[in-house]
Amino acid sequence: MTKKYLTLVNIEHPILHQAERKDLVSVSEDRPGILLERTAAEALRELIRDIGGRERIVPVSGWRSREEQEKIWAETVEEKGLAFAKKYVALPGCSEHETGLAIDLAENAPDIDFICPEFPRTGICQKFREAAPYYGFIERYTKEKESVTGISEEPWHFRYVGTPHSVRITEQGLALEEYVESNDGRVRQDSPCRSSLPGRAFRGMQSISRMHASGKGRI
Ligand code: DAL
Ligand code: ZN
Repeated sequence: MTKKYLTLVNIEHPILHQAERKDLVSVSEDRPGILLERTAAEALRELIRDIGGRERIVPVSGWRSREEQEKIWAETVEEKGLAFAKKYVALPGCSEHETGLAIDLAENAPDIDFICPEFPRTGICQKFREAAPYYGFIERYTKEKESVTGISEEPWHFRYVGTPHSVRITEQGLALEEYVESNDGRVRQDSPCRSSLPGRAFRGMQSISRMHASGKGRI
């Protein structure tokens, strides 16, 4: 696990190193234009496959170049106004989409909104959300942490941080800001997560089954 997966990007922490094109791959054959950092893309594919989400979960936006983020920002301001843009679009240079570690997802539907895609807290999308930490992803912008992240709730935006950080962040109900700033992302040798950390597919699925068997909606 390298530190890059815990990179904090927000308005106070602009992106310092652009993702390198050689590290980016397509998230799926069906969507060759949607790119993510290689490890994040593999984890996403594995997660969607393991929960039976292919065809039902659609990647909407992955890596964005600075130019693309600038265009999205400008168009959103023009079409929806500055207040809306500030809620749902990071300023160019301050978007974690530029790292290649963030993905927006939608439930498959004829019309998918690019800025605010529907990714409900039910069905296959909720199954994805509950499994995500076991594959290295966190739901990045929650309602509870709006004042910390500076971004409104985005149930569709997932950020790859890698395990065991994803499990710890989710279990502790932290924003990435809080996690990174509290312990600098260090994982203690005696961390319970280290020994009980589910491997991706196999142990991740066991955890999902356990959660369902115990009736727990969220980890
Ligand atoms: N929608 C998120 C905040 C972004 O534009 O990076
Ligand atoms: Zn996003």
